Amino acid sequence: MATVVTHTPMQAGLRPAFLDGQVKRMLINGQWVAAASGKTFDSINPSTGETLAAVAEGDAEDINCAVAAARRAFEGPWSTFKPYDRQQVLLKLADLVEQHFDEFCTLDTMDMGAPISRTTGGKRRVLGMLRYYASMAVQLHGETIENSLPGEYVSYTLKEPVGVVGAIIPWNGPLSATVWKVGPALATGCTLVLKPAEEAPLTPLRFGELLLEAGVPEGVVNIVPGYGETAGAARAAHPDVDKVAFTGSHLTGQLIIRASAGNLKRVSLELGGKSPDVVFADADLAAAVPGAAMAVFSNSGQICSAGTRLFVERRIYDEFIGQVSEFAQTLQVGNSLDPNTQIGPLVPQQQLERVTGYLSLGKQEGARPVVGGERLTEGALASGYFVPPTVFADVQDNMRIAQEEIFGPVIAAIPFTDIEEVARRANATPFGLGSGVWTRDVSKAHRLARAIRAGSVWINCYQAMDPAVPFGGYKMSGYGRESGIQQLDEYLNVKAVWIRTA
Ligand code: NAI
Ligand code: MG
Repeated sequence: MATVVTHTPMQAGLRPAFLDGQVKRMLINGQWVAAASGKTFDSINPSTGETLAAVAEGDAEDINCAVAAARRAFEGPWSTFKPYDRQQVLLKLADLVEQHFDEFCTLDTMDMGAPISRTTGGKRRVLGMLRYYASMAVQLHGETIENSLPGEYVSYTLKEPVGVVGAIIPWNGPLSATVWKVGPALATGCTLVLKPAEEAPLTPLRFGELLLEAGVPEGVVNIVPGYGETAGAARAAHPDVDKVAFTGSHLTGQLIIRASAGNLKRVSLELGGKSPDVVFADADLAAAVPGAAMAVFSNSGQICSAGTRLFVERRIYDEFIGQVSEFAQTLQVGNSLDPNTQIGPLVPQQQLERVTGYLSLGKQEGARPVVGGERLTEGALASGYFVPPTVFADVQDNMRIAQEEIFGPVIAAIPFTDIEEVARRANATPFGLGSGVWTRDVSKAHRLARAIRAGSVWINCYQAMDPAVPFGGYKMSGYGRESGIQQLDEYLNVKAVWIRTA
């Protein structure tokens, strides 16, 4: 049984002023407006089940207005902003986010349940992202290309913003997901119609207030919350949206590609995974035990690149699983606002049902829960959506708990014997997002780094991230990259210019 934090830490003074009882409106053309339908939906605190705010529920009509505003801004005032001006806006925005960072952390934590220690710990990363995009705004450039007739033609390329971007984000990290879409749009000169997840819309809306304060002109970033089937689908299908940047499940990714076909808009997809994390007997176990555990338990497993298929070399399998399970039991589960909490709730209630469904399924399939395995309902946890860190041993590769993305704090631990075998089994999944390797042997590390078909390979670490380093998927984990110049290229068109000089 994991350690449970039962007291409630919420002090009156901590409650963000943004939660003022008013309906949270959407941002269209620089104005805070109600949904055309007048509808709202509630945003819930998954630690307590409390309603935090009613939020304007956008649909196709609101998306039409927002896309029109984004188009006008793209062709109008925003196009006169020079790279330096866009850099200044991003730097101002970074300063404002820094000033209000604690408020963002509290809001993120209340709205989506990530422990406060996790949201506050993300400060360097979030601010680093904004300032990275600011630095890139003045570095985007085409190339002079030496063609095969250099005396007769000069050829060079220009990089130009793709235009209006529809961005759709999930609930598992609202602030960083917002920055991950707004940053590249502002750096490249695109305009944006952002859809927060219906489960966690508050941080993106508060972020919208700072965008206006930072001097982002009206219509450049529009924020229209709502449900996926309506507000999300309308963005993907809209004939005047030039690109969709999506983060979420592969099933929704497939719907988005279909919806995007009408105007053949560009699509980038950052989808889920079932990432392998491979531990060799020669690893530094003192680092590998907490490393492999937190590769799954961070954010209660609600991370696309979580290392959920834990392959352990057979001769240390029992010992390693025992140590990971012991470590799991030291993790404090509780209200996300408690500074001691390490494991918060699952975000929406559907997610609780989904994850507990997989816990039952794992047992039916014959896997053995070493720790965890049941929803927590003691005391104050009863009203929230809590599942403890769970380790399943005796997992076979073909079990559904070893094949499907659970998006909860659930490890499927699988023994292996040698490197060729583990490389083959690690790749036996439709996904290819993250992967981990724990070993002291550099040659094994390099061999697996090449053999694994995934967008990131973390050696003796997991989930290291940096704004300059590309992140994204192979196979059904999607295409396109976030972070790095590779992400900015997703928001840019390349134009070739030819001059006949002969
Ligand atoms: P989802 O893919 O349905 O939701 C992500 C975003 O897409 C939300 O903003 C949602 O409103 C929007 N959306 C939903 N349907 C849409 C549609 N037809 N057109 C356009 N946008 C649409 O994911 P959901 O239902 O929240 O979670 C289900 C599972 O997906 C999770 O259990 C997890 O396995 C996976 N997932 C993976 C994420 C990742 O970071 N890669 C994030 C969220 C979910
Ligand atoms: Mg959904």
